[in-house]
Amino acid sequence: MKNALIQQIKAIVGPDHVLTATEDRWTYAFDATDRERLPELVVFPGAAEEISRILVLANEHLFPVVPRGAGTGRSGGAVPIKGGVVLVLTRLNRILEINTKDLVAVVEPGVVLGKLKAAVAKQGLYYPPDPASAEFCTIGGNVAECAGGAVAVQYGVTRDYVLGLEVVLPTGEIIEAGTRTMKGVVGYDLTRLFLGSEGTLGVITRIILRLVAKPPARQTLAAAFTTLKAAAEAVSRILASGLAPTALEFMDRVTLGCVREMLPFKIPPQAAALLLIAVEGHPRDVEERAAAVAAFCREQGADPVLRAKTAAEADDLWKARKVVSPALLKVKPHKVSEDVVVPLGAIPDLIAGLEDLSKRRGLLIPCYGHAGDGNIHVNILYDQRLPGEANAVGPTVEELFHEVRRLQGTLSGEHGIGLTKAPYLGMELSPAAIALQKRLKQVFDPRGIMNPGKIFPPEAGDLRITLKSESN
Ligand code: LAC
Ligand code: ZN
Repeated sequence: MKNALIQQIKAIVGPDHVLTATEDRWTYAFDATDRERLPELVVFPGAAEEISRILVLANEHLFPVVPRGAGTGRSGGAVPIKGGVVLVLTRLNRILEINTKDLVAVVEPGVVLGKLKAAVAKQGLYYPPDPASAEFCTIGGNVAECAGGAVAVQYGVTRDYVLGLEVVLPTGEIIEAGTRTMKGVVGYDLTRLFLGSEGTLGVITRIILRLVAKPPARQTLAAAFTTLKAAAEAVSRILASGLAPTALEFMDRVTLGCVREMLPFKIPPQAAALLLIAVEGHPRDVEERAAAVAAFCREQGADPVLRAKTAAEADDLWKARKVVSPALLKVKPHKVSEDVVVPLGAIPDLIAGLEDLSKRRGLLIPCYGHAGDGNIHVNILYDQRLPGEANAVGPTVEELFHEVRRLQGTLSGEHGIGLTKAPYLGMELSPAAIALQKRLKQVFDPRGIMNPGKIFPPEAGDLRITLKSESN
């Protein structure tokens, strides 16, 4: 990037808010995947107007702009794969309003989700979405990727809580989309279009969130099953039983092994799967439903079924669940972690297929995740130094996606397409649907400066993506 351009950007945001040194820029080269690329410049804007001016410059000089928050994304959405400017939104970190009468919060994108959830709880309200990275991720990234998490079974995902947005369009205009009201059908639903748009349609600078009342009671149970099949089959039965769980998560044997010592209970070694179930509501109702869920799990063959007796025990269970993804690296140094979703009735088929896939490809493929909404984290573990394993990963991912599509599922429930799944977009969307989405992108971003290289399959001549392990 030319020095004159860097000076212009420094003049917009202030020289202290620009990183030019190589070692500083490397910090913003990657996210939670194994992809990386050094950005040419890292910029920390302090206001929507500054972002607007940078985007106008980007259109004039044709440099890519990649917005990002905490970099906890799992599909490479924040990786500046075509270089250019990484726009770090962490200075925009104010909670502007928590309104207990309107039941809304107005926030800037750089607010850490855990802080937002705590501030809302302090006012007696609840912002439900709870991705595993809640303590570190930022709400802007949650909106850009439409983050999910464990309580989606009852409460839905980020999309279900975003009422309105302020967005700087790739061409520099600052627009408002949506409302501050619970309903609104004025014009096209641009708010939803931005949800999960992965930083390709603009930079989100303000978010109006819907809040709900805080449920007065919550109980957590852990049910151990001796076969994975029995656990998988229990999932849709629990959901059909009317016991209305808030969260219904599962871990297989390998996953369980990675977090076993963090659990507040002793889970017997013969356990092949653990279901983690939360129930929320009024205390008496919760008590009854938790007892009924426990009895139901026992009927389905679970043994033991343990109930968290204190809030601390419940916290330990959920903490263990939230670290599963990084904990799997205890087993193998590298992994590809997917977030496929299948219809609830197809979970047993998907899991049975994974055991077969694992055997045929010679790779360990543990799975865990949000069984209650059919969103299974399939983790393909490997060692980059073993060519037999490393070469088997790509075909294994492809086979997994074929199976998911055969079961009428979707390639991504909550992590987004980003970079890692872009080559596979055509497995789910028809050529006509992809062409329409490309035309939409063109309308928003005629010069293609916003987060290029994401969502759409790479085209001939695109830069080769570098794996972190390759450049180490
Ligand atoms: C989880 C992340 C990986 O649920 O989505 O652990
Ligand atoms: Zn998840």
